[in-house]
Amino acid sequence: MESVKLHDKVFESYISEAQIDQRVGELGAQIGDDFRDVDMLSIGVLNGAFVFAADLLRAIPYEVECSFVKMSSYVDTHSTGVVSELIGLGESLEGRHVLIIEDIVDTGSTLRKFMETLRGKNPASVRIASLLLKSEVFDNAFPVDYVGFDIPNHFVVGYGLDYNGLGRGLRSIYRIVEG
Ligand code: IMP
Ligand code: MG
Repeated sequence: MESVKLHDKVFESYISEAQIDQRVGELGAQIGDDFRDVDMLSIGVLNGAFVFAADLLRAIPYEVECSFVKMSSYVDTHSTGVVSELIGLGESLEGRHVLIIEDIVDTGSTLRKFMETLRGKNPASVRIASLLLKSEVFDNAFPVDYVGFDIPNHFVVGYGLDYNGLGRGLRSIYRIVEG
């Protein structure tokens, strides 16, 4: 599929299924090495991270516990800056090594808010894996330890990412065609 139309906007092919597959495999191997002997809990950030989390977990060569939280800040194609936590965390994080799994870090406000709530739960460490990073926009307020692809400031959909609810099931990543 070269391009797709979602609501009123057209998106063009950007990162292929094969490229994603290869990169997720590399990240899974690296994360697998880094967390091998520790008590790890991975936390996917819904909605967008559900596809990446599913593939990343299966790329880690041993059993990993996985939970999810639900955060929301985006309306249309822009971050509102107001982040709300819609579903919280049930698990205790005390002394555990946490891996946050995100679809994309854009302004960073979603994860900044989430990390504030994690800090009170006394995890042994917190690391972040994000499939995509918009480093031109991100203020580097915290390290993103595992990055799939660093991309320019384009709005993208697919592989879990949506435009107003559509596009999450696309197997590859598409970027918006402006104008
Ligand atoms: P941030 O809080 O600005 O870092 O934005 C993070 C959240 O906004 C991500 O977890 C996504 O759910 C959403 N988001 C940011 N950029 C995009 C995009 O290009 N396409 C779709 N969703 C995005
Ligand atoms: Mg997200």
